Amino acid sequence: MTTKKSFLKQFWQEKKMVGAMSPSSKFLAHKMLKNIDFKKAKLIVELGPGNGVFTKKILEKLNPDAKLIVFELNDDFYNLLKNEINDQRMILIHDSAEKIAEFVKKEGFLFADYVVSSLPLANFPKKLQETILKESYDILKNHGKYVQFQYSLLSKKNLEAQFNTIHVSFTPLNFPPAFVYTCLKEK
Ligand SMILES: C[S@@+](CC[C@H](N)C(=O)[O-])C[C@H]1O[C@@H](n2cnc3c(N)ncnc32)[C@H](O)[C@@H]1O
Repeated sequence: MTTKKSFLKQFWQEKKMVGAMSPSSKFLAHKMLKNIDFKKAKLIVELGPGNGVFTKKILEKLNPDAKLIVFELNDDFYNLLKNEINDQRMILIHDSAEKIAEFVKKEGFLFADYVVSSLPLANFPKKLQETILKESYDILKNHGKYVQFQYSLLSKKNLEAQFNTIHVSFTPLNFPPAFVYTCLKEK
């Protein structure tokens, strides 16, 4: 189930949850991950990995003793990742991203260095967006970053309500073209 065709199948079945018709491009992956200091990161959390386009790149760069906690709610994508990626550093959670704090603590961590999110936030009810952003903020260490891509600027206000500093960049080299928000936690 690694092809664009299967991604499209998921999109039509669960439009609001998946939020994209095809996996992200390598250009978007580069933009999403370029501000991560992989030499120092001990814990990265990924929300909404889909078929793992960012997950695999994170694992390529992640330190041998660091961990990646991944939340995927969709059954098919979860099973795909479970079968395809065999890496001791990845902890795959088949549950919703709004439980991020619960699982990070359960895995023995106090804080994460980065949260990398592909969630289709703009499709979510406002309350769910707020919960996920607050939980992400709470589990980030001071000066940690929340990196999120979106196809529009609709969620900008919600991100600004939670994070102190936000930088927005854009890549046309994705289908659809995407905005990347890099949000800094500063206490
Ligand atoms: C736009 S796709 C992104 C997939 C992939 N990261 C990419 O960029 O190609 C969004 C993903 O978020 C997942 N998702 C949606 N709601 C979720 C939730 N509440 N918790 C965890 N994953 C969720 C969907 O199943 C889907 O895999």
